[in-house]
Amino acid sequence: SPPQDVRPRKQRLLVVANRLPVSATRMADDAWHLEISVGGLVSALLGVKEFDARWIGWAGVHVPDESGQKALTEALAKKRCIPVFLDEDTVHQYYNGYCNNVLWPLFHYLGLPQEDRLSTTRSFQSQFDAYKRANHMFADVVNEHYEEGDVVWCHDYHLMFLPKCLKEHNSKMKVGWFLHTPFPSSEIHRMLPSRSDLLRSVLAADLVGFHTYDYARHFVSACTRILGLEGTPEGVEDQGRLTRVAAFPIGIDSDRFIRALELPKVKESMKDLKERFAGRKLMLGVDRLDMIKGIPQKILAFEAFLEENPQWREKVVLLQIAVPTRTDVPEYQKLTSQVHEIVGRINGKFGTLTSVPIHHLDRSLDFTALCALYAVTDVALVTSLRDGMNLVSYEFVACQAAKKGVLILSEFAGAAQSLGAGALLVNPWNISDVATSIRYALNMSEDEREKRFHHNFMHVTTHTSQEWAATFVSYSLAKNISHAESRWC
Ligand code: G6P
Repeated sequence: SPPQDVRPRKQRLLVVANRLPVSATRMADDAWHLEISVGGLVSALLGVKEFDARWIGWAGVHVPDESGQKALTEALAKKRCIPVFLDEDTVHQYYNGYCNNVLWPLFHYLGLPQEDRLSTTRSFQSQFDAYKRANHMFADVVNEHYEEGDVVWCHDYHLMFLPKCLKEHNSKMKVGWFLHTPFPSSEIHRMLPSRSDLLRSVLAADLVGFHTYDYARHFVSACTRILGLEGTPEGVEDQGRLTRVAAFPIGIDSDRFIRALELPKVKESMKDLKERFAGRKLMLGVDRLDMIKGIPQKILAFEAFLEENPQWREKVVLLQIAVPTRTDVPEYQKLTSQVHEIVGRINGKFGTLTSVPIHHLDRSLDFTALCALYAVTDVALVTSLRDGMNLVSYEFVACQAAKKGVLILSEFAGAAQSLGAGALLVNPWNISDVATSIRYALNMSEDEREKRFHHNFMHVTTHTSQEWAATFVSYSLAKNISHAESRWC
């Protein structure tokens, strides 16, 4: 390999996301414990290795004292992470309020909060003010660490105001913005009181990316219908300035999962799981405990399946991992109780002295336990009511080379557009349709399973997070994209 000084410098990248890839917890002795955060964005970006990347984001913890902030900054620096410190009121109004009680449900077609939901997080205007304030705080940290030539890559619905803040400070900065959720139809987006401000701030970026063509199309329609701007094959034009818009479907670091299956720890835990569930087919759900994931609907479909297929009752088990998330938002608290109630009722109804049909865990699993579980599963159930992409479906496929299990996948997940040919697609709202798909999946011939698996495995292993990030960053750096290359329309 060439000596150090003639090796080409890697492109510097500042990745800015609300949540850092590691979450911090303060220990009794004031030392900081760091753990990998949960969620699709983190899971994808962990695979991005070909850039000289630094992360800027919130560490998920309130640190009021200067010495604590200093210690955490030093601990995070070892992971190439730079913290943004948000005070409690900002977190409440920006993160719990505007991000997770307004934008998140709206972008997933669940509407805007009614008065009773709003009163707990105050008015739209005060939440939006906190949102802008928070985005300015992120911008200050970016500006402090920015070096000429850096690409600044802003992520997700938390930071729609950031491109504008950055460009106002330095119009030469290369700024990209990528949305990890769906972008809804313009008819939904136009309900938002701050609809125009948000669109205009995103348009300050040089490149705007989405998981699917449909989301990109919805965004361009929102800009033309709400702002009266011109949509072109490359993006959106405003007074001669073009913001490029394109679809960049995300992937995972599939090798990391495939390699993990060879670890003795994973093999051992696969063996344990096989013994534990011997004689029964294993169905698996892995979701953050979020209303968009359709967990109640999934469990009700499993109930309908058991109801209609008594011969399967002691021969199949559903293991649902529901990772707690956004626990300060009342809607999420209600969902937890609702899911517990349904699981309890079904286990009471179909359980016997020797078998329980649903194993429900309210916690996350570590990476090796998760890989083992994916590998021994017969049928995975991803029944999101809406989902930007859904990388659990990709992770499951990556771990199934030996078993060739079946993926039941919601047609409302972005992944339906890439894994649709290999998965059984369902409308998660149609409980009896999902129940029928469960029966079909459990009875599927080996030949059909192989064909379907092969299609999905090829996709997952060739459309990786590395490729996704490299494409986005090279588009950010490119001066002009020809019509022929333009990808959104
Ligand atoms: C989704 C969002 C991410 C978010 C993740 C976890 O995947 O697109 O931006 O980080 O959920 O949610 P949380 O609120 O815990 O960060």
